[in-house]
Amino acid sequence: MPATSAATAATAVINLDLEGPRISRHLYGHFAEHLGRCIYGGFWVGEDAAVPNEGGIRLDVVEALRALDIPNLRWPGGCFADEYHWKDGVGPRADRPRMVNTHWGNVEENNHFGTHEFMALCELLGAEPYINGNVGSGTVQEMSEWVEYLTRDGDSPMVRMRKANGRDEPWKVPFWGIGNETWGCGGNMRAEYSADLARQYATYCRDHGGNTLYRVASGANGDDYRWTETLMRQISCFGCEATPRTFFQGLSVHHYTLAGPWEAKGSATGFDTADYYRTMASARRIDRILSGHSAVMDVYDPGRAVGLVLDEWGTWWDVEPGTNPGFLFQQNTMRDALVASTHFDIFHRHAARLVMANIAQTVNVLQAMLLTDGDALVRTPTYHVFEMNKGHHDAASLAVHLRTTAGTARRTVGDTELDTLSASASVKDGALLVSLSNLDAEQSAGITLDLRGGRVGTPTARLLTAARVQAHNTPAEPDAVAPRAFDEVAVTDRGITLTLPPHSFATLSAPLEA
Ligand code: AHR
Repeated sequence: MPATSAATAATAVINLDLEGPRISRHLYGHFAEHLGRCIYGGFWVGEDAAVPNEGGIRLDVVEALRALDIPNLRWPGGCFADEYHWKDGVGPRADRPRMVNTHWGNVEENNHFGTHEFMALCELLGAEPYINGNVGSGTVQEMSEWVEYLTRDGDSPMVRMRKANGRDEPWKVPFWGIGNETWGCGGNMRAEYSADLARQYATYCRDHGGNTLYRVASGANGDDYRWTETLMRQISCFGCEATPRTFFQGLSVHHYTLAGPWEAKGSATGFDTADYYRTMASARRIDRILSGHSAVMDVYDPGRAVGLVLDEWGTWWDVEPGTNPGFLFQQNTMRDALVASTHFDIFHRHAARLVMANIAQTVNVLQAMLLTDGDALVRTPTYHVFEMNKGHHDAASLAVHLRTTAGTARRTVGDTELDTLSASASVKDGALLVSLSNLDAEQSAGITLDLRGGRVGTPTARLLTAARVQAHNTPAEPDAVAPRAFDEVAVTDRGITLTLPPHSFATLSAPLEA
């Protein structure tokens, strides 16, 4: 068991007049793979379903996600992307070939949800598409033609095919992934080979008409900094053409949060306090990982022309008992919510290099926003963190300096020390938003916000917590974990004070005064 500590008293110093890098809204991106019930049953029910839908897309899911202002959606994988052949997913649905989804449960994929359906989903969500192309089992021509099909105007073979399939206008596709996990399920490549392929594929992923692609090369697994270094060494075309440029604009990295080793991930809901603290320590590792990759990138790209893209992150637990092990369906508790809130604080601090992040995955898979069961829909605790943090989208970050009373706000977890307070802040449209997490499972934390360099008006706050850190939402109890107004906020001559209950997340906002 982690050592106990006294109740925490902390001061969070925030300089309102020292704005840091902009927090891209794309740090709040999402990921939808053809995996388990994410697409089929989650987003897609088909036009004949009893569940209310528009063109086959579930409207309750769309409505719930619209409240999150989802900035981008990555699709079709993941590992699935590298066995997906896009031409199988266009044209009349009855004629589309079927395949086996060998990565995820060996189930049949009928290709009913394809390019047009995904673009329709993005339009309904108001999200920008992030399409991940197939390097592992595809060809340069196949990927090049997909870009042409989606984005080219005028006349060309792919444009004619698109028009024959009912879409005259080209779509805008800003984000393009070149392979996925090429070090693993995407082809088991070496970094050197993967870097060469990324350059080759990127060359033929053209900017058609008014569409400019942000090409993301398949990057490192966790803390594999050598992979990043190999890609960065080969990324640029500086000096090889009249106008210096890079072959691709972003570099991905994936990192999942576990409470232990892959072989013993443990239950999403049946965990103890020791598991909980190990999870929080694991979540904090993302800070070191992002720092490590950023440091390597700084060497080769000090001007930050290339962005770091964490396009898979989140918790990974054992699947729910009785469900298909290949479907990665897991419950989501207050623990998951705090993993998310901690990640966002860290993302905000890395906003200068980190340009995008995509939680895995949006519906019914891993750390989902929504869980569906037939026509029932449940918002998870993680969903609420995304919603409460919306105000940080495209805001200017503000550094938060946390000062804690000696010996408090810390837990010893194995051979690491876990800081149990996490915070970040930003300003946008004349308002301050502060996010505060108390990761301590048992102790409350008294916090004073010492705001300098400006003044704020009356603050309002919201709180997300539950009696137990294992608390979660179900169709029978959809609001067991839901945000509520947090009135116990006082404005004193020392600043704004509030006491965070154990295992809680709060947001506080206040108008900036002239
Ligand atoms: O998100 C589930 C899987 O995790 C993805 O398909 C893969 O890229 C990663 O290993």
